[in-house]
Amino acid sequence: MKKLEEIFDDKLLPMDEAKRQYYFIDAAKDIVAEKEAELGRKLTFCVNTFGCQMNARDSEKLVGILEQIGYVEGKDEDSDFVIYNTCTVRENANNKVYGRLGYLHNKKKKNPHMMIGLCGCMMQEEHVVETIRKKYSFVDLVFGTHNIYKFAELLVRALLSDSMIVDIWKDTDQIVEDLPVERKYSFKSGVNIMFGCNNFCSYCIVPYVRGRERSRNPRDIVREIEHLVEDGVVEVMLLGQNVNSYGKNLDEPITFAQLLEQIEQIEGLERIRFMTSHPKDLSDELIETLAKSKKICKHFHLPLQSGSTRILEKMNRRYTKEDYLLLVDKIRSKVPDMAITTDIIVGFPGETEEDFLETMDVVEKVQFDSAFTFIYSKRTGTPAASMEEQISPEVVKDRFDRLLAKVQEISQKKSGALTGQVADVLVEEINGQDASLVTGRLSNNAVVHFPGDAGLIGKIIQVRLNECKGFYYIGEQV
Ligand code: 5AD
Ligand code: SF4
Repeated sequence: MKKLEEIFDDKLLPMDEAKRQYYFIDAAKDIVAEKEAELGRKLTFCVNTFGCQMNARDSEKLVGILEQIGYVEGKDEDSDFVIYNTCTVRENANNKVYGRLGYLHNKKKKNPHMMIGLCGCMMQEEHVVETIRKKYSFVDLVFGTHNIYKFAELLVRALLSDSMIVDIWKDTDQIVEDLPVERKYSFKSGVNIMFGCNNFCSYCIVPYVRGRERSRNPRDIVREIEHLVEDGVVEVMLLGQNVNSYGKNLDEPITFAQLLEQIEQIEGLERIRFMTSHPKDLSDELIETLAKSKKICKHFHLPLQSGSTRILEKMNRRYTKEDYLLLVDKIRSKVPDMAITTDIIVGFPGETEEDFLETMDVVEKVQFDSAFTFIYSKRTGTPAASMEEQISPEVVKDRFDRLLAKVQEISQKKSGALTGQVADVLVEEINGQDASLVTGRLSNNAVVHFPGDAGLIGKIIQVRLNECKGFYYIGEQV
């Protein structure tokens, strides 16, 4: 087996970052092949993803690299290389990871070849890495969100070292294109259009763990989507923490609406989704583009967070209750059948019953198709964490239950709106409970089950929506 110094020989290392990573993929391939020969079997991996779509896309990049190296997907945590791609947006996500690590330690005692890797947002927090060093010293590799493109290089180090490899960067302005990626679905894909966030909502840890906002070059985005379409993809989800501010920091600035118009031109691409929009940057130009487009899906996710202008100000959201309501009216007046969904936080420091009722009022007025409701979680290092008047758990729980009941009542009422109509469904999979059915999604993201077989997966099919059962439709092909 080659030694670390031989692989990290300056004379051999390519200067270009993508080429450099392909060099390490080749080096890792040799190491893994030797291990496999020794063991007489393939080495397996399992990538376990927590959190948002951004993390899901990052995990596809990890899997792409692992498969190039020669690892094969294994059975859950019994695999030889287990990676947790972590989330830290709320405290309970962190606790879950610590809980799982104890369980992994037992697995590792039984499999001496097992390696454990941790990455993602939680690793960008200093106190987390300290805890891992102290209490979970059996972990092999720890890296963060900014250097994920160096995964192959870090893996080579970890494979050839007996001690924990930790590499965390505070920030980066690098965007490395053209590394391998393995999609979870053949027919749809996430596409990063920007990284990081500059908004600093006062409760949110994302700007600290994902760094400053950086947009990808539109040419790279379009090229990536063209390749995906050649490869069978019909639906893309454009990903960014605040897609409405896309392009502002590029050398040749461009708006999100202009990017969408370029993507719309890609032949063979059928559906465009995006997430997440920030109300403060939602332009009239974008709403016009939505109205004109034939490919942008009829689903807009527009996080509200709170309906109280007073709390929105403390959250540093930079819009008022009235601004939000006006935006929804504008969207609906141009695109009447647009489903609107949202995120709401309950129990932000200082939230009074009156503030909470303002949130309930917006929920009532907007009639969201669905809403993700969260209990405020104190994140160390954010401005809200040191605000006085943290709300007692009992009060928060009571408000949360009332909000959830209202949100559910409204979504149930709205969910059958298309019953009787014929609509396009992108078929995603065989139904988990009844193999004679397939499951897909409407443009507005609603779920539809109808009789069909695996041959329909990845196709857009016209379906009559016969019946709505709670949160999904039962239909038939027309
Ligand atoms: N506590 C609770 N929810 C939060 N979110 C972000 N930070 C926090 C926090 N500290 C929610 C917001 C955001 C979603 C992704 O997570 O509603 O839109
Ligand atoms: Fe967090 Fe606000 Fe940025 Fe969203 S926009 S990631 S809530 S800071």
